[in-house]
Amino acid sequence: ASTTRIAPSILSADFARLGEEVRNVIAAGADWVHCDIMDNHFVPNLTFGPMVCAALRPHTTAPIDVHLMVEPVDALIPEFAKAGADYISFHPEASRHVDRTLSLIRDHGCKAGLVFNPATPLNWMDHLMDKLDLVLLMSVNPGFGGQAFIPSAMDKLRQARARIDAWTAEGGQPILLQIDGGVKVDNIGAIRAAGADTFVAGSAIFGQPDYAQVIRDMRAQIAL
Ligand code: DX5
Ligand code: ZN
Repeated sequence: ASTTRIAPSILSADFARLGEEVRNVIAAGADWVHCDIMDNHFVPNLTFGPMVCAALRPHTTAPIDVHLMVEPVDALIPEFAKAGADYISFHPEASRHVDRTLSLIRDHGCKAGLVFNPATPLNWMDHLMDKLDLVLLMSVNPGFGGQAFIPSAMDKLRQARARIDAWTAEGGQPILLQIDGGVKVDNIGAIRAAGADTFVAGSAIFGQPDYAQVIRDMRAQIAL
């Protein structure tokens, strides 16, 4: 695998043919499958739960990356772990005990991620670095696909990159830096340069007829 990963968000896929969509997008060169779990409470939209994730699991060997936009969080972690999730990420605002929730994810054999909304400060990671496998910066307000990339996310990416690099330089474990929202062929190069290594893209991929072409174009932009 390369040092970058493309994680198509199936939020923009055809929900009537999800298994096939997952197979097609992985065959088209994608690395991960990003699942957006929305509860109409933490975010104003409703998607799917662990049953759908479990139904998709036999369709691919690619990592399943679960982005929880639900509140409360903890009760769903064992369910998504059982459903075959590889990564589980959640928003700190949605958990009363963030450190405990991160431990719960790892205790269930998954990699743990913390998600930062556009206005959520990076300080949330201060005392948690050793419990993170992934940091996800939102470059839109969560809830919907197809929104425009919020420009201030670029500077936030650089700050997050610096924190992660300082951590690993001190001997800390590796932490992936993921970006989610409004990622397209024409901005992914700048997003990579700002420090992201893992790229979620929904509408930019599933909105085009040729997934392989979009993914090739994205890779060409991030091949540094
Ligand atoms: C937004 C979701 C994103 C979304 C991205 O709440 O977390 O994963 O599907 O969609 P695009 O790439 O269309 O902005
Ligand atoms: Zn997402």
